[in-house]
Formats: sequence, C-alpha cells, structure tokens
Amino acid sequence: MICVVAAVLFGLSLAEAAILPERSVITDHTSAGSLGGKWYHRDDHPAHALFKRQSIPGDGVTYPAIGSKQWLSAYPQGLPDTSKLPQEWVNALNAAVAAGKIPDLAPSTNNAAGLPTYGSLKPTSPEVCSGTYQCQIAGDIWAAPDGFLGCGFDDGPLPPSPRLYEFLQQQNQRATHFFIGENMLQYWQEFQQAITNGDDIAVHTWTHPYMTTLTNIELVAQFGWTMEIIHNSTGGRLPRFWRPPYGDSDVRVHAIAKELFGLTAIFWNQDTNDWMLPGGTTLAKINTSMTKWLTGPKSPGLIILEHELSNDSVQAFIDAYPVMKANGWNITSTAELAGNVPYQNADSSTAPVTPANGVIVGDINSSEAPSTSSATSAP
Ligand SMILES: *[C@@H]1O[C@H](CO)[C@@H](O)[C@H](O)[C@H]1NC(C)=O
Ligand SMILES: *[C@@H]1O[C@H](CO)[C@@H](O)[C@H](O)[C@H]1NC(C)=O
Ligand SMILES: *[C@@H]1O[C@H](CO)[C@@H](O)[C@H](O)[C@H]1NC(C)=O
Ligand SMILES: *[C@@H]1O[C@H](CO)[C@@H](O)[C@H](O)[C@H]1NC(C)=O
Ligand SMILES: *[C@@H]1O[C@H](CO)[C@@H](O)[C@H](O)[C@H]1NC(C)=O
Repeated sequence: MICVVAAVLFGLSLAEAAILPERSVITDHTSAGSLGGKWYHRDDHPAHALFKRQSIPGDGVTYPAIGSKQWLSAYPQGLPDTSKLPQEWVNALNAAVAAGKIPDLAPSTNNAAGLPTYGSLKPTSPEVCSGTYQCQIAGDIWAAPDGFLGCGFDDGPLPPSPRLYEFLQQQNQRATHFFIGENMLQYWQEFQQAITNGDDIAVHTWTHPYMTTLTNIELVAQFGWTMEIIHNSTGGRLPRFWRPPYGDSDVRVHAIAKELFGLTAIFWNQDTNDWMLPGGTTLAKINTSMTKWLTGPKSPGLIILEHELSNDSVQAFIDAYPVMKANGWNITSTAELAGNVPYQNADSSTAPVTPANGVIVGDINSSEAPSTSSATSAP
C-alpha cells in the first residue's frame, strides 16, 4: 500500500482565494443559473447559529464553520489549478506511480457520442476496463444484496435538495449523497442540512468531469479537494465511497481513487434518467420504470441512479418511495449496503471519529478502522 499521510491531505494553507465570484451551477448535464454578488452570510450572522452541530461527534479539531469566510476561501473556485496543489499530494502521486501502483494508461478521448476511446485499446479489455462500457473492476460495487435497495442521490447539494432532505427526515430514511465539491462550496446551507440530518456524504468529484479524460494530477485534484472539504466539514470524516460522474472510470482512475484516497466506487444497476427532467424524460416514464423494478425480482438488489438535481427528480423519488416500502425492499443508505460503513474512520455520520491525522489515507489501517467490516462488492 502507498503511504500517504493524511496530514498530506489536510495540512495545507491555500493562498487566499477570492470570495465567490459569480459562477454557474455545476450539475450533471446542464449549466443553469448563478448566484450574483455577496450572497453568503458573515461569520457572526445568526444563520450560523441555526446550523451549529450540537450532537454529532468529531475528531476533536475545531474546523471553520461551514459557510464562514475562512471555510469559503480555503477551496478552489471551479476547476482546481494543478500547479497549486499541496506538494504532499503531488509527492504521493509520484510515489504511487514509482511503486507501479498506477497503471500506465493514457487518458481517454471522448468521441462525438461522448464515449471514451483509448486509441487501439478496447475499452472492455483488462488494460482499460471502462465503467462506461459496463466493465466491472473487482472491488467496485454495481448492485445491492438481494432484497436491499440503496438509497442515494447524485450531484447535490443544490436548491432542490432541502425538499428531499425534509422528506427523508419525515420518513426517518437515511441516504447517501454523492456530492460535487463546487456545489458544497456554493450551496453550503444545503450541505449543512444534509450533515445535520445525519446522512452519508460520498465523493462525486470537484467539478463533475469525465474522469478518464483527465491526467493523473488532475485526478488527484478532483479527489483531493472533494475529500478535503468533506473531511473538514463533517468533523473529520473521511469518505469511503465515490461515484464516477457518468459512470466513467477505468483501471487508472480506479487505482488513484483506491491507492491514494482509499475510495471504492459505487455504480448502479438501474437508471431512471431523471437527470433529463424536464424535457428529456417525464415523471410518467420514470414511474413506469420504477414500478417495473420495484415490483420485480429482488435478486440482485437495486442501486437506482437518482439525482437531487431538479424539483422533478426529487418528486420522482418521493412518488416511488411508498412503492419501495410496499414491496418490502430493505431501503438502506447506499454507502451502508452489505454491512459497509460510509467513512474510513467512522462507522456512521453520527458515530465517533478516529482522527485521520497521522493515519495513512488508503492504508489498510485507515480503511478498516474502526469498523470490523470493510467495503465489499455486493453480488
Ligand atoms: C483541513 O483541516 C486540517 C486540520 O484537520 C487543516 O490542517 C487543513 O488546513 C484544513 N484544510 C483546509 C482546506 O482548510
Ligand atoms: C416542486 O414540485 C412539487 C410537486 O410537483 C410542487 O408542489 C412544488 O411547488 C414544487 N416546488 C418548486 C419550488 O417548484
Ligand atoms: C406511479 O403513479 C401512480 C399514480 O399517481 C402512483 O399511485 C404510484 O405510486 C406511482 N408509482 C411510482 C413507482 O412512482
Ligand atoms: C434491513 O436489513 C438490516 C441489516 O440486515 C436489518 O437489520 C433490518 O432489520 C432490515 N430491515 C428491514 C425493514 O427488513
Ligand atoms: C498499521 O497497523 C499495523 C499493525 O497493526 C501497525 O504496526 C502500524 O503502525 C499501523 N500504521 C499506522 C499508520 O497506523
């Protein structure tokens, strides 16, 4: 295993980044509105008191409040500048490459249809094993155990998220949120709400790119910053899972996620296409697909791709939820399927945290402590 000290991940002091200029909302497939001007609250604004976490234990470190100036200025705006990464991250990558842990595979090129291509190499060959082509790398998760349904949502936090969070809370249902780094920064109140709810936070990268098209160092930036903001906003929890945007991963991306960051990928086995709402699909079509899956066989279990991207995509889940229940599915936060725990150093979003400082990210110690269970591939 590669020895990457977590102090590596967390011991940086970024030069002052400008406080949120106007920027567009990062979503899966659309570029939508933007928030202009100074929309954030000052540190002493009463809003901060509203969102203070009273009861969730952390690692003992006092982190800047989510949404505070200090917090907002600590992370990159938009695409991370790879020349401004913490030197330790760069060293860790170099060490992993030198140790032969990272396959020497060139980044893919997207063809006209948006599909990654690898020159003369077949995307499904063992040297590539592209997730876009449904090639499954051992250890990654593509389905739930029989009878289980993984509850999880991509692309948040975003303005439609609170409605989802209120619904989940009313139902006493925990979920996994595969969050985009930039969105956590911009929609920090929604981010805080998900944490306060006790939901599980997983990595959906910093800017939602086709990961296989990126260079190694660009991948480190996408993973590193997203891990960092989740760690420093959840009392020191290190996510255990990530979801590749568009399902686009390969052996090289897999190795960087696993060796440097201890991350396991969770894909899906049914797709609602809810990201196309409105326009590309309809609630009625999603209802038809959902009904088929939810009333169908329970083997394998379901990981349905769903998004907290629009009011309608949230609605599609709210409509389907009673049907999930009525059909006897065991609905579990996606990161908690198969007895997994959502963090590398905590058993849950509300459980005590083993400080990651000095622990090795991606090392066997940090990926197994403190739980006895480790990430396993569902059948
Ligand atoms: C994250 O927290 C650690 C302390 O655990 C600190 O050293 C590091 O600078 C923080 N990172 C950011 C980007 O604020
Ligand atoms: C979201 O959708 C629900 C149900 O269709 C509707 O009642 C609600 O007003 C919508 N909210 C917004 C902000 O559009
Ligand atoms: C589909 O729509 C019908 C009619 O509104 C509703 O009763 C049913 O619960 C919906 N099913 C799903 C899976 O959303
Ligand atoms: C779901 O599975 C968990 C873990 O096996 C179990 O503890 C729980 O009772 C099950 N819940 C339902 C509703 O079947
Ligand atoms: C990892 O565990 C081994 C065996 O328990 C121990 O010797 C080693 O010091 C641990 N490493 C870290 C970084 O905690």
